[in-house]
Amino acid sequence: MASLLEIQDLHVDVDGKPILKGVNLRVEKGEIHALMGPNGSGKSTLSNVLMGHPKYTVTKGRILYNGEDITAEKTHLRARRGIFLAFQYPMAIPGVTVANFLRTSLKAVRGDEGAVKTFRKTLREKMALLEMPETFATRYVNDGFSGGEKKRLETLQMALLEPTLAVLDETDSGLDIDALRIVSTGINKIAGPNTGILVITHYQRILSYVKPHFVHVLMSGQIVHSGGAEMAQELEKKGYDWLKEEEKAVAA
Ligand SMILES: Nc1ncnc2c1ncn2[C@@H]1O[C@H](COP(=O)(O)OP(=O)(O)OP(=O)(O)O)[C@@H](O)[C@H]1O
Ligand SMILES: [Mg+2]
Repeated sequence: MASLLEIQDLHVDVDGKPILKGVNLRVEKGEIHALMGPNGSGKSTLSNVLMGHPKYTVTKGRILYNGEDITAEKTHLRARRGIFLAFQYPMAIPGVTVANFLRTSLKAVRGDEGAVKTFRKTLREKMALLEMPETFATRYVNDGFSGGEKKRLETLQMALLEPTLAVLDETDSGLDIDALRIVSTGINKIAGPNTGILVITHYQRILSYVKPHFVHVLMSGQIVHSGGAEMAQELEKKGYDWLKEEEKAVAA
């Protein structure tokens, strides 16, 4: 059986600058992976490339999804396959309400948004799960939202779309302690035997709620270390410098 996601020797340029320099990663159904690494190491680049952002150029390597090569596939088709990205910096869309935005995204992904009544009911249920006040639905997307509210909206969208691969780019950043628990509940609801999850984070905190099977460290555009859940605690204690030293020793 093909892996849910297989990234093979992926090299990516942004505006002519090489950012990813040979990333290999395999995510099987049912697995939760955490991706950590210093600022600027290429984590968001990887997540954007997985979603097919046109700004990023794949110069070598490929991305397979359920065994099919999606390296050159358009974003909306990837979304239809069930790939979802929660952005590190969600954008505001003034003039578009949360409810309309979510209904439109559901239609774009499923091809059919279903009956309004059913949608409203599901939205209410998911909002209750994420402990979001109903007034949220009538506000404009991310317009004037606090940092934590933006992250909750990303989680709400994920909960509605029920992706088969969820890439969460620092969804925990800026969340207060209660919001972190609530957002983690949303992520754990999505997790299951048919779903792969890639949690990009700087902190061990979220990983005590969303338990990863594997933790990877991305440095200078390459995964330099992979381990189990205990890696996150180790990194929290030791930082990344020791891995830099190891990397130098290997290169020498
Ligand atoms: N248009 C661009 N031109 C040049 N360099 C760029 C461009 N866009 C991104 N980069 C660089 O690519 C590198 C990787 O950025 P990326 O956002 O993927 O890092 P990250 O690991 O997500 O960092 P963080 O932890 O801060 O979110 C950075 O050094 C960034 O400055
Ligand atoms: Mg980033």
